[in-house]
Amino acid sequence: MTQPGDFDPTSLTLDDARRLFEQLQEDLRLADLAYHQNDAPEISDAEYDAKKRQYRALADNFAPLAAEATQLNSVGAPAAAGFGKITHAIRMMSLGNAFDDGDVVDFDKGLRKYLGLGATAPLAYTAEPKIDGLSLSLRYENGILKHAATRGDGETGENVTANARTIADIPQEIANAPAVLEVRGEVYMSHSDFEALNQRHAAQGGKTFANPRNAAAGSLRQLDPEITRARPLRFFAYSWGELSEALASTQFAALQRLRDMGFQTNPLTQHCETLPELIAHYRKIEEQRATLGYDIDGVVYKVDSLDLQARLGFRSTTPRWAIAHKFPAELAWTRLEGIDIQVGRTGALSPVARLHPVTVGGVVVSNATLHNEDYIVGLDSKGEEIRGGKDIRIGDWVQVYRAGDVIPKIADVDLSKRPDDSTLYTFPTHCPECDSLAVREEGDAVRRCTGGLICPAQAVEKLKHFVSRKAFDIDGLGAKQIEMFYNDPTLPIKTPADIFTLQTRDGATLARLKNREGWGDTSANNLFAAIDAKRTIPLARLIFGLGIRHVGEVGARDLALHYLDWDVIARAVDAARPAALAHRAADEAEDAERIAAAQAGRRARIKEVRDKAIATYAVDDQARSAWEDLTGIDGIGATLGLSLSDAFANPDERGAIDALRAHLTTLPPEVPTQSSPVAGKTVVFTGTLEKLTRAEAKARAESLGAKVAGSVSKKTDILVAGPGAGSKEQKARDLGIQIVDEDGWLAMIEGA
Ligand code: IVH
Repeated sequence: MTQPGDFDPTSLTLDDARRLFEQLQEDLRLADLAYHQNDAPEISDAEYDAKKRQYRALADNFAPLAAEATQLNSVGAPAAAGFGKITHAIRMMSLGNAFDDGDVVDFDKGLRKYLGLGATAPLAYTAEPKIDGLSLSLRYENGILKHAATRGDGETGENVTANARTIADIPQEIANAPAVLEVRGEVYMSHSDFEALNQRHAAQGGKTFANPRNAAAGSLRQLDPEITRARPLRFFAYSWGELSEALASTQFAALQRLRDMGFQTNPLTQHCETLPELIAHYRKIEEQRATLGYDIDGVVYKVDSLDLQARLGFRSTTPRWAIAHKFPAELAWTRLEGIDIQVGRTGALSPVARLHPVTVGGVVVSNATLHNEDYIVGLDSKGEEIRGGKDIRIGDWVQVYRAGDVIPKIADVDLSKRPDDSTLYTFPTHCPECDSLAVREEGDAVRRCTGGLICPAQAVEKLKHFVSRKAFDIDGLGAKQIEMFYNDPTLPIKTPADIFTLQTRDGATLARLKNREGWGDTSANNLFAAIDAKRTIPLARLIFGLGIRHVGEVGARDLALHYLDWDVIARAVDAARPAALAHRAADEAEDAERIAAAQAGRRARIKEVRDKAIATYAVDDQARSAWEDLTGIDGIGATLGLSLSDAFANPDERGAIDALRAHLTTLPPEVPTQSSPVAGKTVVFTGTLEKLTRAEAKARAESLGAKVAGSVSKKTDILVAGPGAGSKEQKARDLGIQIVDEDGWLAMIEGA
C-alpha cells in the first residue's frame, strides 16, 4: 500500500515515543467518538489512517507502549451508550431509487404489470418531497405519546422518547387518534437554524456540523434532553407503522388525517393522476429546492390507493409501491493526494483515490473509487477513451462525482492545473499483501494477485470464514488452528478441500500431528471426527462458507431455498454468465453516461445506453432467463448475481469449489416453519387468474413460505388452475396432485 511520509519510530527515545503515542491515542479516541457517536467527522479518513499507522508502528516497536495500546483493535466507537433499544412493531423500510425519468416510467410499468392494469388504466400517486433528515417512529396509545425510536437497522432503533418530547412539531397528545397509532416521518433542521447553531458553537469554540442532517442526527441523539431542547429540530410526518384502524383509504387522505391530528405534513405534497403530472411536480419541486429553507434530496412517489399498496406489499427492505426520484448527482473539484491498492478476498487489486477532503452535496468525501488501472490512464473496459483520454496523476485536480449512496467516483481531471511535481502512478505488478505477481488476463479489466490461495490476505481469510460458526463450524478447527495448518509445510491446509483430505494425507497425518505441541491421539481423533461430521452439510452453509463477496448468510439461504440443489445452482449460474457480463457492461456504460450528463448539465439517457451496451453482447434467451431468474430472487439482485457469476467463472476459484464439492453431500434447505397453511408447499399456477396477476400470486405465495414452480412434477403439492388450464392440469390429475381454482387458493391463504 502507498504510505506517504513514511514514519520511522526506531529513531525515537522511549520518552519521545511515549509522548507521541499518548497524543495519537487521544486523537484517535476523539476521532472515533466524533465519527461514530456525534455524526460529525472531524478529521479526514486519510489523516485518521496516517495517525493509526504511526500509533501501530509505535506499539510494534516499544513493548511498554504495546501493553498500553487501547486504540489498536477499536473499530469505531461502541454504539451510543445510554439509549435503550426499541423493536419496531412493523419494520421501518427504506426506498428504492429512480435517477431519471426513464426509471420512473419503468417503475409505473412494473406496477401495472404486477397489478394487471393496462397502460391507460387509472393509477394515481401521491408525490412528496424527500426530506433529508433522519427518520423517527412515534408510538401513540390512546392518543398519548408512548415512545419515539430512531430507525436503527430497520428492526430495532434507539429509544429517544425524552428527546422527541422536546420537539414542538411532535404532539404529546392527540384528541382523535386510533387506539394504536405509529406515526413515521423525518426529523430535520432548517438552513437558518443550522447556520445559527453553527455560529453559536463556533463563537463558544465548540464543534460545528458539516450539514443540517448531521446537526439534526447529533441533536436528536443527545443523552441530555435539555441539549436537544436547545436545538431547533422539526418533524414532517409522511408514513405510519402499526395502526389499530386504517387512517383513510388513500395516501393523500391519510396525510390529511395526520395533519388534522396536529402533525406537520409537507405543503408540497400533491395528488397526481398521471405520470406527466408526477414529472411536472418533480420539476416544480426541483426549481424550488434552493429556496425551501431545508434540505431535500428528491421526490417520493407513492401509489395513492392504500388497498393497492397492500396488494403490492414489500420486497426485503423496500416497498413495491413507492420510489424516491432523486435529484441529479453533485460534482466538486479537489486534489488527488495518493492512490492506495486494496486486495479483495478474490485477489482483485482495486485502486482507491485518496482525496483532499471536499464537500460534495453536503457530504465530506475523502476517498473515491478508481475502478482499475485502465481507468487511471483514461480507458474504459473496451479500451476506448474516457475523459478524452486524460490520465490521472497524483497531485492532479480531479472532479468528484457523487450520487446519493453511490460510492464517489472521479469524473474528470483538469490538465490546466496539473502541478509540475505531479507524479505518474505506476500500477503495481505485484500484490501489496503477498508480493505475488499480479496479472491481467486477456479481456479482464482487473489485475489480480496470482497468489490465489497462497496470498495470505485471501487464503487465510477465506479458510477462517469457511470454518466459522455460521459456515462449516468444525469443532477444534478455529481461526488459530487454521493459521497453524496454513503455515505448516508438512501438513498444509491451503484450501477448504484440504480439510477433508487431512486425515488420509499419505497415511502419516496422525504421526505428524502428534509431533506438534498440544496434539495427542485424542485431540487428533476428535478433529477427524469433527471434520467427518461435516461431510454432510446443509446447502446454505456450503454456499455461505465459500466466502464469495456479497453472499452473506441471508443470500446463501435465499439461493438454497430457490435452487434446492448444488448442481442446479452451478448450472444456473453458468448458464447466466453471458447475461451477467452484458449486465456489467451496461452498468459501466450507465456510469459513463451519468457522469457525461452531470457534466453537460443535461439529463442522463440511461435506458438508451444500457440497451446499447447489452446489445453488443450476444445474450441468448436461455442466458437471459437464467440471469433474470437468479437476480429476481427476493434479496439477491444484480450485485450479488455478478459476484457469484465471477466466482464461478474464475478457473482457480471454480477449481477449489469443485474439489471441495467432491468431498461433500449437501442437504436441501428446510423451509422456514411458518404458520401459513402453504408454507413449504410447492405450488404451480396455470391458466388465467382473474383476481391476481401472476407476479402478485407468486410474490404472495412466496411470502407465505411456499415455493412457486413453473411446471408440474412429482414434487408439486398444489396446482392452482384458472380457466384455460391445459396440459399441466391433466398432468397434475394423473399424478394425483391437489388442484384448486383461484377462489379456492385465495380461501386457502386467507388471513395468513
Ligand atoms: S416513505 C415505507 N416518504 O427516505 C415507506 N420516506 O431513502 C418508507 N424519507 O428511510 C419511507 N422523506 O427516512 C418516505 N416523504 C417521504 C420521505 C422519506 C424522506 C426518508 C426516510 C426513508 C428514506 C429512504
